[in-house]
Amino acid sequence: MKLWGGRFIKETNQLVHEFNQSISFDQRFYKQDIEGSIAHVTMLAKQGIITDEDRDTIIEGLKSIKDDITNGKLLIDDQHEDIHSFVEAHLINRIGDSGKKLHTGRSRNDQVALDIKLYTRDEIDTIDGLIKNLQIELYKIMQENIDTFMPGFTHLQKAQPLTLAHHLGAYFEMLKRDRSRLMDIKKRMNLSPLGSGALAGTTYPLDRSYSAQLLGFDGPTLNSMDSVSDRDYLIELLSALSTIMMHLSRFSEEIIIWNSNEYNFIELDDAYSTGSSIMPQKKNPDIAELVRGKTGRVYGSLISLLTTMKGLPLAYNKDMQEDKELTFDAIDTVKNCLILFTGMIATTRFNKINMEESAKKGFTNATDAADYLVNKGIPFRDAHSIIGQLVLYCIDQNKSIEELSLEEFKQISPIFDIDIYDAISLNTCVQKRNTIGAPGKEAMAEVLEIYEKYLKEV
Ligand code: ARG
Repeated sequence: MKLWGGRFIKETNQLVHEFNQSISFDQRFYKQDIEGSIAHVTMLAKQGIITDEDRDTIIEGLKSIKDDITNGKLLIDDQHEDIHSFVEAHLINRIGDSGKKLHTGRSRNDQVALDIKLYTRDEIDTIDGLIKNLQIELYKIMQENIDTFMPGFTHLQKAQPLTLAHHLGAYFEMLKRDRSRLMDIKKRMNLSPLGSGALAGTTYPLDRSYSAQLLGFDGPTLNSMDSVSDRDYLIELLSALSTIMMHLSRFSEEIIIWNSNEYNFIELDDAYSTGSSIMPQKKNPDIAELVRGKTGRVYGSLISLLTTMKGLPLAYNKDMQEDKELTFDAIDTVKNCLILFTGMIATTRFNKINMEESAKKGFTNATDAADYLVNKGIPFRDAHSIIGQLVLYCIDQNKSIEELSLEEFKQISPIFDIDIYDAISLNTCVQKRNTIGAPGKEAMAEVLEIYEKYLKEV
């Protein structure tokens, strides 16, 4: 059934119907569509545009449709063009003439703008909650690993030693920013387009502030043309989702590296890894690889929507119908990835001994050895050069710095003394780094306290 059949003589070509329809995907916001309609008729009655009896009959009809869809009694078929037509047609079917008044002072253009806004607003909260769950798991692992030494890398080469708590803290920070980005978007988008009509408002005395308030908005949008053609907030959301995926993807990459035979820093839980059909010894990090892989499709949604919007004249154009599948796919992907990633990280075992052994190798204490000389009065640039020679000697002798004898140290510089061994021990190297944000125990404890408070408040 068409909402707009009156002007037409011929039936729509079947392929055109299939190409044009959105009901196959916009049915996912039937609840928001009905919620918006209830607010709309409540406002219409308050303004005396429809009677209170019509309002009550319509609301009752809409609620019965919502319940019937939810419990499977009413199936959404593909005969209707979109979810808006479907609900309206069924309403008229159920309650008769009053149902025909639902669309007074409204267009599908402001209706769809409203529906997807309500839908994404809910999803933003869900995604925020899922990120928080991941933060909670990270926080637990951090608390237990404030003393677990591991190498820190630059250029994927061992650089300086730090702790597992400190390494995971970097991701905790990224996730904090991800959450605050989502909240920024939610705040900015929280204005109601309802009552903007097709593009130029309506001649009815609508109270747009009232319907906005009923739907939990901060107020109505201020330009009806912009209201029906603004998809900025979806672009912002897709950008924020892309950044979340970028973070998860970097984390996944590290999980994959740490899980490799060469590193052997972690053991993934059986429930969160997969095997090979031919190689019996394999235990693969498929979840991490899929999260890394799916990052591409979320980026794709962002670029697609930006491209769809770039040439559109004001106001509504059907091109905008494309916003939905892109946004839905990105939201579904991010939610799934967050759930799976959190499960994976929460069940991962960290091979603390391997991590610590690895931290000892690769001259991660070379900077501290240079600092030792600086403390004895040598200018840093000279100290850097002396330790460079020392490292070269160690490579030649196949030894680590702390394995050298005092005589060997002294051959390179007479300044070295017996206290060098303590100065370059793994423990000293990490624990002396106690400026806020550094891996030392005191600094880390302070940060963990801040995170505990954050998790209670945000
Ligand atoms: N399915 C349409 C969309 O998603 C709803 C709006 C239709 N409006 C119109 N003027 N054809 O954009």
